[in-house]
Amino acid sequence: MSTAERETPLLRLEGAEVHFRAREKLFRTTIVRALDGVDVSLNQGEALALVGESGSGKTTLGRVSLRLLEPTGGRVYFDGEDITALSDGRLKPFRKRAQGVFQDPFTSLDSYMTIRQIVEEPLIIHKIGRGNERRERVEWALDEVRMRPAGDFLDRYPHMLSGGQRQRVGIARALVLTPEYILADEPVSMIDASSRAEILTLLNELQERHRIAYLYITHDIATARHFAPRTAVMYLGRIVEEGPTKELIADPLHPYTQGLLAAVPEPDPANRLQERDVLPGEPPSPAQVPTGCRFHPRCPAFMDGLCDVADPVPVEIDGGDGGTGRTVACHLHTDAGRERQASSGE
Ligand SMILES: Nc1ncnc2c1ncn2[C@@H]1O[C@H](COP(=O)(O)OP(=O)(O)OP(=O)(O)O)[C@@H](O)[C@H]1O
Ligand SMILES: [Mg+2]
Repeated sequence: MSTAERETPLLRLEGAEVHFRAREKLFRTTIVRALDGVDVSLNQGEALALVGESGSGKTTLGRVSLRLLEPTGGRVYFDGEDITALSDGRLKPFRKRAQGVFQDPFTSLDSYMTIRQIVEEPLIIHKIGRGNERRERVEWALDEVRMRPAGDFLDRYPHMLSGGQRQRVGIARALVLTPEYILADEPVSMIDASSRAEILTLLNELQERHRIAYLYITHDIATARHFAPRTAVMYLGRIVEEGPTKELIADPLHPYTQGLLAAVPEPDPANRLQERDVLPGEPPSPAQVPTGCRFHPRCPAFMDGLCDVADPVPVEIDGGDGGTGRTVACHLHTDAGRERQASSGE
């Protein structure tokens, strides 16, 4: 084991669970299992992509990782500290170290505030610097996101900017606190196709320059390749496969990952994976999670009497070189499933 593997992860979710109570009829409630037992960890400076269809629980996981949402089960650790149930007051030091960049740069910025006020606000909340010092930090952050010269943007309002520029402001606002962790939840999906690559490149550069750990949420498994060395695939509130992005894309192990990749039409970034292109079969509902393996009703490799009965535990896959850091939760790779395949093959 290398030192990197032994270090305390910056962020760790253990068995994280978010079950929402949704009212169906007047006296009937259903439980929506948006997050249903997720283990994931992120080392300092590491980027992890999180992919999966709409409704698979990506944003819920992201919100838990920022403790914007308290999980109904499991634990959240940041830099070794259990932050699962900390009060808002006690979360303040964490809030300074962990920031989010969200999908919609049009609603996430207050339209009555100038760019300077927007980027300065976190400094005021966390009582960092004063007067000139704050102004310098704001200009530094704008410069970092390449809004140059920063002075030209300070007194403008969000509506005077393009979508791409607004998202840069959103990134500057996150960056101004020099966080160690940034959740980027589909940061380019609502931006003009023409500026998407630039924003992703910017996020990439910032990550390397400041050694920020990223959780990068995306529908587009293909962009993960350029962005994150490691990828986790979510299905109905669970991580079903995780591993080095290149290997995961070149040789997906889970039939769901295989389906996701098959649904990616072409390398043209303008029209890559959209949710409507995803796998055939019933769109899954976290209010009615299937028995056994939750993917079994849509799975081309379904094994009767096994996949519909037993929930597959994640298995580590040895690449033959002493482990590749890949895991998959699928009966094609469990002992029970392998026995079944061997006996049906005879
Ligand atoms: N507050 C809530 N109450 C009830 N159900 C919720 C709530 N928030 C989310 N959900 C449900 O939880 C599931 C997971 O939602 P989530 O937003 O995490 O998915 P997602 O993977 O981010 O999807 P998308 O790709 O569309 O953003 C969905 O079925 C959603 O409807
Ligand atoms: Mg989402």
